[in-house]
Amino acid sequence: MRRRTPEAHCAVGWSAGGGGGNAAARTRREPIHGGSHSRVVRESGPAGGIPTATSDTRRRIHAPQTNKKEEQGMSIQQHQVRAAEMLTAAGILPVVTVHTLDQARAVSAALLEGGLPAIELTLRTPVAMDALAMLKRELPGVVVGAGTVLTVEQMQQSIDAGADFLVTPGTPTHMADALAAAPLPVVPGAASPTELLALYARGFRVCKLFPATAVGGLAMIKGLAGPVPDLKLCPTGGITEDSAAEYLEQKNVVCIGGSWMVPGNWIADGAWDKVRDAAAGAAKIVARVRGR
Ligand code: 3PG
Repeated sequence: MRRRTPEAHCAVGWSAGGGGGNAAARTRREPIHGGSHSRVVRESGPAGGIPTATSDTRRRIHAPQTNKKEEQGMSIQQHQVRAAEMLTAAGILPVVTVHTLDQARAVSAALLEGGLPAIELTLRTPVAMDALAMLKRELPGVVVGAGTVLTVEQMQQSIDAGADFLVTPGTPTHMADALAAAPLPVVPGAASPTELLALYARGFRVCKLFPATAVGGLAMIKGLAGPVPDLKLCPTGGITEDSAAEYLEQKNVVCIGGSWMVPGNWIADGAWDKVRDAAAGAAKIVARVRGR
């Protein structure tokens, strides 16, 4: 499978001094997804006065970085270990949906600034794949998982765009086949013990429980810890700031996913200060529960 080598250059390139604000519009070249051509795009800096994600920011926050070249030759077992490491380092995984590249850039920078370096970027909008590629190019300190991966084609496109890992909301057999052979860590989704055990039998040890609260929430997670203690979960769906800690405390939970720190109206309004503050609150929960 073809992968794009992530570029090493740094960070959100606007707003000298890191103050964000209403930076003047500028242009830059942006590769057109999946091809060698590029286009000039005109854009403005983030609204709401967020600090930009500088290399200083990245040094302060422990980001669960990936080594894509090394990962390509790994077995499913090794990829699953890597997935567990990445998600454990993240603790809380914001589930992010964006409609523009500017939103992708600004929300990721705000999350990083708040202390959440890993995101699940949903493939639910037309811009999502371009946003994924852009984030890996411009914000290498952000660990980007492609979420809502529904098809093998989306899986391949996400890999080509530079995704650090893949997440599915549910995993029909043909997707499990493809994910088992994928050259990067994956987190397949499931909603029941039978679905989880089918994934377990194929070698997956880190799965997304989705939609977590709707299918049993904490009771389901506690119930699974007995029969399959080495199956680790990333429950997502319906978890809030108030319930996050109790989910994270479960011994078979490596990470929790949620969108409470990135609701659609904050993203639409450019309320990056709110995103940053909610991310900081979430990062505090991780620090408290995990004793960091
Ligand atoms: C989703 O797929 O949107 C995620 O599960 C987020 O769920 P939440 O909005 O309930 O946190």
